[in-house]
Amino acid sequence: MEKDLSNTMIIFGGTGDLTHRKLIPALYQLYIKCYLPDDFSLLCIGRRHKTTEEYVAELRESVKKYTSRTFKDELFDELAAKIRYFTLNFDAPEDYEMLRVEITAREEKGFSRNYLFYLAVSPEYFSPIVENLKASGIRDNPSGWERLVIEKPFGKDLESATALNDNITKVFEEKDIYRIDHYVAKEMIQNITMLRFQNTIFESLWNNKYIDNIQINVLEKEGVGTRGGYYDHTGALRDMVQNHLLQLLAITAMEPPISLEADDVRNEKVRVFEAVRDYGGMDLTDNVIFGQYEGYRDEDKVAKDSQTETLVAAKIFIDNERWRGVPFYLVTGKALKKKTAQVTVEFKRMNPYGDDFIKEPNILEIKIQPDEGITFHLNVKKPGVIDEMVTAEMDYCQSCMYLYDSPDSYEKLLLDAMIGDSTRFTRWDELSLTWKFIDSILGRFNGTKKHLETYAVSSDGPESLNSFIDSGSKKWWYLNRDYQWSPSFISPLDEHISTGFNIRQVP
Ligand code: BG6
Repeated sequence: MEKDLSNTMIIFGGTGDLTHRKLIPALYQLYIKCYLPDDFSLLCIGRRHKTTEEYVAELRESVKKYTSRTFKDELFDELAAKIRYFTLNFDAPEDYEMLRVEITAREEKGFSRNYLFYLAVSPEYFSPIVENLKASGIRDNPSGWERLVIEKPFGKDLESATALNDNITKVFEEKDIYRIDHYVAKEMIQNITMLRFQNTIFESLWNNKYIDNIQINVLEKEGVGTRGGYYDHTGALRDMVQNHLLQLLAITAMEPPISLEADDVRNEKVRVFEAVRDYGGMDLTDNVIFGQYEGYRDEDKVAKDSQTETLVAAKIFIDNERWRGVPFYLVTGKALKKKTAQVTVEFKRMNPYGDDFIKEPNILEIKIQPDEGITFHLNVKKPGVIDEMVTAEMDYCQSCMYLYDSPDSYEKLLLDAMIGDSTRFTRWDELSLTWKFIDSILGRFNGTKKHLETYAVSSDGPESLNSFIDSGSKKWWYLNRDYQWSPSFISPLDEHISTGFNIRQVP
């Protein structure tokens, strides 16, 4: 059956940072690549009073800034003609009545009756907005589809996430709720599934017989910046591990889904979360490190005696047939030496001919950002009359081949939500299991301070990270990488936009 993509997208939080930095630039990209349906329109809702003209002028500057290579005024004008700004107070029921009148008038003019409600607002407004959509009758549309896209944070623990979920499921069915985890739509994270299940050589070795350990790292160079108020009540465990890193873990570890349909994939991720060993009864110090960067407590809106972690390293075991005994080492942190995210698979060493021959284990690096690609490390004989081994690296540099021009994850997610494909969105059972796991760690500190190690800004993190890996090579492979693929040879892309896409021509 042909999918009905036509829709009116309604963004709550139209003046916010996410809308300016991610959503509108992504819609602009989808528009110029001819993916948006002809009758797409956008109603952006914010609390501030402004005209649509003023609003569009602000958006133009943001799109210019965030899509500099492909920005064309004439193409932005075409998209802008589909945008309208509407002022509304998120918790004022009378404002929703006015919104309903506006929506009805638009429908009478022939605008699409399919609705994508996007909540790009702070979490305290999630429930009021959804409740008001119902009370006002806006969410009561017999003649089209209605979907709810909801940003993180989805709760701050299992209890609050459950309460939020109870509220929104009174108004939207699970199948119509699209909970965002933007990591899942990153190009190389999508590629993990393909790499594993479309290559015999990897899937046959992807288990505890051949793999020594797996390292998942998502490191950031920036500190908390202007987000201190939010971050100080959140911390790295809730902000990054509960969602992005555990999703990466599940995608790396899941069994092959019977199809790539949304529920088949998400069922397999749920099975991984069910098999993750919880830390109850174990000594947490062997399994989790918390760090805080020097100067964090002086950041804006951060408590002077803050106990919030800006770095977490965790050793996780998945107690199933495939992974029993294989540690997954996760690390994420802010204000570190460099921004880098990758999954590194360390295979078991083999050394049938003695120590003179051993080099390194085979390593598979899946590079997520800033470079995208795959590097595989092999042991080979160095040419020469003396027997000597060296490590050779086989590179697939996706960034070089596709000119550092992968779509942003929001392009993929917005298009998926319009198509009705929820594969890359988080289902409630995934979310509840990941919160349960995080609660099992945080619950250990009820009333007691966690041991926080400070680390210098722009460093590799706290000292104890060095000895955290206690299997195989005993090292973090990402720290070993002192080179990055250089974008220097890549030509400027002004006219020559991309390798793979049809780009709309300026009329
Ligand atoms: C967000 C976190 O979900 O992801 C931020 O709230 C973090 O703290 C960001 O900086 C990282 O995303 P990316 O795509 O820049 O790696």
